[in-house]
Amino acid sequence: MARNALKGHLVTLRANRNRVARTPMRQMFAEDAKRFARFSIGLERLVFDFSKHRLDERAFAALVEVARSANVAKAAEAMFSGRKINATEGRAVLHTALRNRSGEPVLEEGEDVMPRIEAVRRAMTRFATAVRNGDYAVTGGKVTDIVNIGIGGSDLGPAMVTRALSPWHDGPRCHFVSNVDGADLAETFKQIVPATTLFIVASKTFTTQETMRNAETARQWLRRQLGRQDVGGHFAALSTNLAATRKFGIGDERTFGFWDWVGGRYSVWSAIGLSVMIAIGPKRFGAFLDGAYEADCHFRTADYAGNIPVVMALLGIWYRNIWGFETQAVLPYDNRLARFPAYLQQLEMESNGKSVMLDGRSPGTETGAIVWGEPGTNGQHAFYQLIHQGTSVIPCDFLVAARANENLADHHQLLVANCLAQSEALMLGKTLDEAKAELAAAGRSAAEIRRLAPHKVFPGNRPSSTFLYERLDPKMLGTLIALYEHKVFVQGVIWGINSFDQWGVELGKALASELVPMVKGKAEPVGKGKAEPVGKDASTRGLLSAYRAMNGGK
Ligand code: F6P
Repeated sequence: MARNALKGHLVTLRANRNRVARTPMRQMFAEDAKRFARFSIGLERLVFDFSKHRLDERAFAALVEVARSANVAKAAEAMFSGRKINATEGRAVLHTALRNRSGEPVLEEGEDVMPRIEAVRRAMTRFATAVRNGDYAVTGGKVTDIVNIGIGGSDLGPAMVTRALSPWHDGPRCHFVSNVDGADLAETFKQIVPATTLFIVASKTFTTQETMRNAETARQWLRRQLGRQDVGGHFAALSTNLAATRKFGIGDERTFGFWDWVGGRYSVWSAIGLSVMIAIGPKRFGAFLDGAYEADCHFRTADYAGNIPVVMALLGIWYRNIWGFETQAVLPYDNRLARFPAYLQQLEMESNGKSVMLDGRSPGTETGAIVWGEPGTNGQHAFYQLIHQGTSVIPCDFLVAARANENLADHHQLLVANCLAQSEALMLGKTLDEAKAELAAAGRSAAEIRRLAPHKVFPGNRPSSTFLYERLDPKMLGTLIALYEHKVFVQGVIWGINSFDQWGVELGKALASELVPMVKGKAEPVGKGKAEPVGKDASTRGLLSAYRAMNGGK
């Protein structure tokens, strides 16, 4: 029977919250010179600082007990060793095998998956190298542009990673098309050279409506542009569904497979990473995997209190379940990580946005938080006002590199200073007395001080973690992503939910398929209460008829 391990700890954790709430963080820092050392963890070229949280030693110890009673280590070993922990789909969860650099076998149903992984990786390497050096040519010769057509995990990972690693990008130009909105493809067509473009159709299932529509439209466009029917050489496929890739007409020699034990949102390490490999080269792709492997080893071996993903997970639970904070901001002070929050939205919200435990019962507590964010410093001039002075408390993750990948005046120092300033301001805040003193020092009258001071108060005591890493390179990015993956895993284990299925996306997909003929005017919506078994509600019917009217009644 599934169990939400948190439930037995709620009373203790709430008592801890009530005690911690009496001492603002600024006082905790003032009273404890060792607070940073106490609440930070180092890992190779990275520091994870979690000292700016509403936490003391006792509360932290109580949180660690939650991980212990959920037996996170045992659950992790079940994942790493290929047990079918994705029970609702009857699948193992082995994305970690894709970056297993130990040389040891990884068994799934008694069979070592490593030879299959290595065979695909070798094929990807040969193909990526040939595309990069021109040995693989298309109609117009050497490939100048690649377009990854995919959505969700078949887009967000490669799109985020290629952008993050642009300083290492020495292959063809990369484009990503995901949305079924024709605008996405149309804008991409404007940027590419048809005769020298390679389309990579990335879809685990090879049935996803958006991806299949985009791939077919791209093929038709290419045929028109090149004036020939045979454009097969311009397409490669990344999928677990070889029957469907063949049916689409993509030859096996340009199809790179993976397996049902790689979840879509965990697939950037698999063949889905082909566009990344073509962009930065196989060697650097290897470094990306090395970084993730390093995080895997840390997660498997570090004790709970010194384990970055475990601590990240516990902090998330602390705020979501004990303090009632619903959202979590991810704020990279690293412009190339602009898509990292979107990537984490799928990773966290598709994994842990669940209302039932593995056995179908309610977990009885809240589960996954709402994740959102934008790069700093841009966000500072947009939504930080609410983070600092709004009525909601939003725990933040700051990410910043010690060294920039370029040397432009003092930009990087300004960036770092801003990042540190934000977490400091959130933690410290500004009291009414401080606001008054500031206004007085600025020569304001007593009346003005009375009027303005309340607006200048910052409540402070607002929690944040900071990742400070040496430099955003392939290896570091691999580490960061894998740390977040394991955070999500730990939370799922504690809540007793399945972090690896996504049934919640199915209903919308089914209804969209049902609506397509109605939108096209080839079927009529029927109302509930009529003889027909499936009806459309009055709102949907009303919108459909307004839509048709706006399209000239068609
Ligand atoms: O709709 C959700 C989802 O199934 C994601 O989990 C997945 O990453 C995405 O769609 C794309 O799926 P596929 O790779 O099969 O096209």
